[in-house]
Amino acid sequence: HHQEDLVLIHNVPMLKSIANNWEQVEGFQARPDDLIIATYPKAGTTWVSEIVDIVHNNGDVAKSSQAPIYYRVPYMEFFMHPEKNIPGMRYLNSMASPRLIKTHLPVQLLPKSMWENKCKIIYMARNAKDVAVSFFYFHHNIKALPDVGTWEEFLQKYIAGKVSYGSWHDHVKGWWKKRQEHPILYLFYEDMKEDPANEIRKLMRFLEKDLREEVLEKIIHHTSFQFMKKNPMTNYEGLSHDTVFPFMRKGITGDWKNHFTVAQNEIFDADYARKMEGSGLQFRTEI
Ligand code: A3P
Repeated sequence: HHQEDLVLIHNVPMLKSIANNWEQVEGFQARPDDLIIATYPKAGTTWVSEIVDIVHNNGDVAKSSQAPIYYRVPYMEFFMHPEKNIPGMRYLNSMASPRLIKTHLPVQLLPKSMWENKCKIIYMARNAKDVAVSFFYFHHNIKALPDVGTWEEFLQKYIAGKVSYGSWHDHVKGWWKKRQEHPILYLFYEDMKEDPANEIRKLMRFLEKDLREEVLEKIIHHTSFQFMKKNPMTNYEGLSHDTVFPFMRKGITGDWKNHFTVAQNEIFDADYARKMEGSGLQFRTEI
């Protein structure tokens, strides 16, 4: 594995491996019963994917433990299937319906057929500062990702939107606006962390699932950070040959305080206020 450069796709920096296959991404054929999980990287994609898969299986935890999460909820725009050396698109096309599919694409780059087929979409957002920290570690853990340098260097790129998938601000704002015209359930990592029962109930309503309270309790247990960290189906253990672990790093809100200097925080906040003004979006950076 070697480090990848970023290439602009409609002005959004993307990994070369994705950019090289862009026509296939654009032309992706969605089905009306596809369920899409959309996130900015490191916003809790794996976590919400596991929850959605179990709710979708009516709370059947055993069924959701039959395969690693990246098979059950495959990545739409990533082309090499993580384990078997087969193109991701071919794997997706061969999947039986209903499919659960994850993507990190900003709203304006989502394949047209997902809108045309009115696919239900679950968007998970996480505060910008914890995402920055998590994304920084991720770049150092996954050898195929671009070299982002020191924390200071990475943070500058992140603020400028010069990282894979572009600006966090544009991503969360774009998806927030889109929910006015499309079935999108917009969830927050911090809310899920604080009150999973409440958030999973929202998800159940969105997916039209009426599960009993004891099933809900079981789902909460099975998708807790501690459980998922030990669970080989969710901790990416099988991929350890090209990564430095753990994928399940800390799983908390507010770890940014251990990384941002006072000066970095001031610069970040000033830029944030300017970009997020009038968006109607409110994030909590501690709980
Ligand atoms: P940290 O690096 O802050 O620990 P993604 O799946 O989008 O790549 O996001 C990864 C982040 O979600 C990591 O954050 C990871 O620890 C966290 N995460 C994964 N499962 C979680 C869970 N069950 N509860 C809370 N956080 C979780």
